[in-house]
Amino acid sequence: MPTKATPPAREPAREIARRAPVSIKAPTAIVSTSPLVAGSVLSIASLTLDDVSAILALASKLEKEDPLKRADRLAKRRIALLFYEASTRTRTSFELAAKGLGADTTLVSSLSSSIEKGETLKDTGLTLRALGAEAIILRHPSSGSASLLERETGLPVLNAGDGMHEHPSQALLDLRTILAHLRSSAQTVAADTLAGVTVTIVGDILHSRVARSNMLLLPRLGAKVILCGPPALLPELAITAGPGISIERDFAKALAQSTVVMMLRIQAERLAGLQLDLEEYKANYQLTETLLAKHAPEALVMHPGPIVRGLELTGEVADGPKSLILEQVHHGVAIRMALVLRALTGGRP
Ligand code: CP
Repeated sequence: MPTKATPPAREPAREIARRAPVSIKAPTAIVSTSPLVAGSVLSIASLTLDDVSAILALASKLEKEDPLKRADRLAKRRIALLFYEASTRTRTSFELAAKGLGADTTLVSSLSSSIEKGETLKDTGLTLRALGAEAIILRHPSSGSASLLERETGLPVLNAGDGMHEHPSQALLDLRTILAHLRSSAQTVAADTLAGVTVTIVGDILHSRVARSNMLLLPRLGAKVILCGPPALLPELAITAGPGISIERDFAKALAQSTVVMMLRIQAERLAGLQLDLEEYKANYQLTETLLAKHAPEALVMHPGPIVRGLELTGEVADGPKSLILEQVHHGVAIRMALVLRALTGGRP
């Protein structure tokens, strides 16, 4: 049997790891989060509140639009989905969104492409461009990979999750979900839109690109963000990620202040070297019906998925009346239609 000298999917990770340190802080000095190409979304931080408002409004417009008319918008335009990590929600919703606008899509995944043979992210991106891709939607295990791909290809890139860095479309769909419940008619956002709202993010903050993108977005709209978890998954340094963020390690105290509780999965795939006693974790941080009823009976429960029933939350909470988990998934399609249309129209749909 021939042996592989280098696991190919790790090659771009090494390439970027030289420049991107593991840190709870956004690696802004190392990896550019400002798009070079109009329509790219690499980071939630580079979207202004006007951009966010425009995306929310466009999502609602496209969602209501006649499907035949909608399918004319990007008829026969070519979009590549480049996925180096597993995904159900993000991949499917981006694909449905692009197809709903009439675009042709192709999926390239690390397990069934020449990435397995050692092709780099740069060469895969250039190959997709030569095949006619006009935009690339990228999920990759390395922080900064979306920025690198954009720079090397010159194509608009939508970051569908890059390592421990960001997941901007998730933050946008989370915002749409929150607004649908707390400010039902809001299509525009401003610095006070979420004034008085407290969002508690619980669990594996250190490894969570979803937490980072939400931490960078929600306080800009006036929300208070509380981070809750054990030191191994939530270093004190996390509060320096931005303004409006605090840490409360006592789950009951955090719940008592919460308008929204955002539970996170323990990311087993990113825990190498960390000692974490899962039974102790569950005892301190698992969201149960009893805890919810006692400390936050009115709180909305969110989770980006995939959920692990019986670990970060119980099945009863996931299926319970306060759970918005499937609504989040639903909002993903409209938000991603807006992002895809924006990407293929130079940011001005
Ligand atoms: N929330 C999220 O990114 O889910 P997937 O990994 O299934 O895409």
